[in-house]
Amino acid sequence: MIYFDNAATSFVKPQIVKNAVETALNKYTANPGRSGHNLSNIVADLVFDTREKLKEFFNAPNHKVIFTKNCTEALNLAIFGSLNVGDHVVTTCYEHNSVLRPLEFLKKHGIEVTTLFCAIEDLPAEIEKQIKPNTKMIITTACSNVTGECPDINAIGKIAKKHNLIYLVDGAQACGHIDIDLSNCNIDLFAFAGHKGLYATTGVGGLMVNENLKLKPLLFGGTGTESENLIQPTDMPEGLEAGTIPTIPIASLNAGVGYLFRNFEAIKKHENELSKYLYNKLIDLNFVEPLFSENSKNVFSFNVKDLDCMLVADLLNEHDICVRAGLHCAPLIHKKLGTLKRGALRVSVDHFNSFEEIDCLIEILKQINKLKTTKF
Ligand code: ALA
Repeated sequence: MIYFDNAATSFVKPQIVKNAVETALNKYTANPGRSGHNLSNIVADLVFDTREKLKEFFNAPNHKVIFTKNCTEALNLAIFGSLNVGDHVVTTCYEHNSVLRPLEFLKKHGIEVTTLFCAIEDLPAEIEKQIKPNTKMIITTACSNVTGECPDINAIGKIAKKHNLIYLVDGAQACGHIDIDLSNCNIDLFAFAGHKGLYATTGVGGLMVNENLKLKPLLFGGTGTESENLIQPTDMPEGLEAGTIPTIPIASLNAGVGYLFRNFEAIKKHENELSKYLYNKLIDLNFVEPLFSENSKNVFSFNVKDLDCMLVADLLNEHDICVRAGLHCAPLIHKKLGTLKRGALRVSVDHFNSFEEIDCLIEILKQINKLKTTKF
């Protein structure tokens, strides 16, 4: 089997992550931050250590880490927690539905939204042009899950800082693949998924929140703090983490981030080489209609001329090659690229992939293209 669906979730997990899950299941099954016994405290230490590792990895000493069940929940917390009636938001067509759908909902509840359809390299200048007195927030992805292109988050963060705006970045596709520095990029809110490039299990994501911000909670309930108070506590992280947090996935995340600390330079190098190799191979195929560019990182979407992307994905699946076809929950970038009706095939690599696997994909794509003239 060849796995090229890493943008959906990473398939190969480092051995250290698997070991961490087993250890956690055997040793860390108490509830952290609730009871005061030793076992509860050991789990609380593991959770604390995971928050600290994330802060160090993303250079965010002044952020709080709020654990959520996934990146979508983290983005919802950031958006619903920050915006009030009358606020204006600037965002982009490169976003996932986990940004677009909350904003679409809020449009009907007094929030103004400007969505930019410009080229990715023009985003900083175009975003700045849209800023007006009631603009509260800028939201961008750190890497498109369709084109693999990355906006200049450093430049956008500078604009946010200059105009005193909140900058929310969706890090789902970027984490563990490209450098992200929250402090230098002036990122106030950063949402991440545990199960993609951070190599955790599913079940944990998070929002890193600049400690100067006060967010409204998305969930209300027990926090293990101020239990006599019927009002939800405002302290972070507890006030924004009502209910028992997912300790086993957090243990896996702890190991995944530890793995990245040790291997990140080698991972980026190999992934850059894989991306270049895949780009050159795909661009050489005259039947490939690319949605990617030379700047695409790890994620390459395209169509095979005159073939339905779902059919191509099924044919690849028959050869045990896993890809994702369709709209990838990101309809506006497909609208911009003219593939809203047709969708596209997406091949997404990870450092566990090899050049030989790419060669195999290319050969099978050639065979599928040949079938077109005979079979279809
Ligand atoms: N958002 C994930 C993807 O792009 C699931 O496939």
